[in-house]
Amino acid sequence: MNNNLTQISNVLVIGSGGAGLRAAIEAKQLGMEVTVLGKRQSTDVHTVLAAGGINAAFGNVDEDDSWEQHFADTYIEGYGLSEPEVVELMAKESPMLVEEIDGWGANFAKLPNGKIDQRFFGAHTYRRTCYSGDYTGRSILFALLNKVKSLNIPILDSQYVSDLLVEDNVCFGAMAFDIQSGERTVFLADSVIIAAGGHTRLWRKSSSRRNENTGDGFHLALKAGCRLSDMEMVQFHPTGMVIPEEMAGTLVTEAVRGEGGKLLNSEGKRFMENYDSERMELSTRDRVAMANYTEIVEGRGSPNGGVYLDISHKGKDFIIEKLPRMYRQFLDTLMIDISKSPMEVSPTAHYSMGGIVVSPEEHSTGVEGLYAAGEVTAGLHGANRLGGNSLAEILIFGKRAGAAASKRSKNIDIHKRSKKVIENAHENLNSYIKNGSEVARPLQRALRNIMWEYGGVVKNEKKLNKGLQEIENLKEASKDLDVRPDSEGYQDLMLAFDLQASLVSSESTLISALSREESRGAHQRDDYKEINNDFNVNMRVKFDSDSNILLSKDNVPALNKDLKDLITKTKEIDNFEGMLLE
Ligand code: FUM
Repeated sequence: MNNNLTQISNVLVIGSGGAGLRAAIEAKQLGMEVTVLGKRQSTDVHTVLAAGGINAAFGNVDEDDSWEQHFADTYIEGYGLSEPEVVELMAKESPMLVEEIDGWGANFAKLPNGKIDQRFFGAHTYRRTCYSGDYTGRSILFALLNKVKSLNIPILDSQYVSDLLVEDNVCFGAMAFDIQSGERTVFLADSVIIAAGGHTRLWRKSSSRRNENTGDGFHLALKAGCRLSDMEMVQFHPTGMVIPEEMAGTLVTEAVRGEGGKLLNSEGKRFMENYDSERMELSTRDRVAMANYTEIVEGRGSPNGGVYLDISHKGKDFIIEKLPRMYRQFLDTLMIDISKSPMEVSPTAHYSMGGIVVSPEEHSTGVEGLYAAGEVTAGLHGANRLGGNSLAEILIFGKRAGAAASKRSKNIDIHKRSKKVIENAHENLNSYIKNGSEVARPLQRALRNIMWEYGGVVKNEKKLNKGLQEIENLKEASKDLDVRPDSEGYQDLMLAFDLQASLVSSESTLISALSREESRGAHQRDDYKEINNDFNVNMRVKFDSDSNILLSKDNVPALNKDLKDLITKTKEIDNFEGMLLE
């Protein structure tokens, strides 16, 4: 643990998922020395789990599609909380970035004319979602990894970042330790990009795996002085696996519904008729998740507490071509052949739509020299994310953050690197290593149960207050954590940092959810069941000087006239004026 290294780059990227890699590629192509740090093996980062597709308004299948329509669909379904400029950039630039990644080897499914095929995804007006079977994230990640390799960009796996190095609101690097050896490295850089993902592993049922999406990126950002936005906006994907217990929450891709899958209750009824008779299973995620939840709690669920998702009518050949991972997943874990039997599914925590507040074009944070990209940021999705927009987001804003970080590196003359800040980061690490009576894993488990119980699909004031009280108890317990790294590695230390980050992220989420006294998109409360235009605000949180969470509200960014006209031209929507600020 006492081996201390120093490493210098122009651009340091924290996170080796899709957003981080795309940022690194851009910076390298602009002549920067780049280092990428990852917690897990680079071939197994969270991006590999992204399944059904990536959106780009090519109009290859439905020729009337346009970036304008993609903008309108995304903005409206975000219930007015998104940052319009971010949505506009995503809708305009995704076709270019999707073609680029296809050319780098993502190898999306093609039409007979050679153009990229596009499938339906929920709440998109047209078929817009490009895909590789149901393993699109994997295809994209491996294409990025090949590009990274060809550019000789180093990815250091097993690095856990404990602190960003910030002096006078300027970031000059990060402190990290090796999860296996404990070796510490001070990574100095002109610019730093956080692309460390979200926090949805903090719910009992989650589509994330152990040790990923634990909120560590949010905690680093708060400690550095950034603000987080919309933390209450946590997307529950309607269809996670229900059994076996150890797989509960694992994603059952929306592509199943996109390719014709039907949701049925225990009475055999296609219940989406009662919730969105027009769009049925291809309604928005928030509506389908609520429909599944309602069927289950009202007693029309399956024996294991889910509803049924049936694609068997499509036949085995079709399923194996379009949904090969799903076919295998149910066979491997349950011996269920989905070409013959339905799946049991229920809502699962899937995506953090809130995150670090960033500028639209550069994705710069409020801290100089610090940028962010991907799920760790807020702005694109508002109160409800359309499936397939996050893979577009990681490419577009990874590239943009990489370019902005490079520009800063080229332009800076002198960069102050404070010894005191580095010493403090060492001391912070040292302070975690001590004997105690609590162990991180059970506390993490307890937190996941708390978040599921009190901050789950449907919340209310009583539950949220109870959740916050329970988090306080866990915070107390976490002060007495036992962290004894040994020859087996420094996992205990990683878990201790993760736990701290998870507690802070959970608290931020529940505090924001408590203040939003309405139901909007993914934020559903049974004590305030309607959308309320008094809450056309973004909830922001930041740390005060004692690292307590401070909440404030900002009015949502207004749409400029052009974008407003664009939406009214492309979309009819009830109460549209009420959702927007002039
Ligand atoms: O269901 C899915 O395939 C998930 C896609 C997404 O979250 O974008």
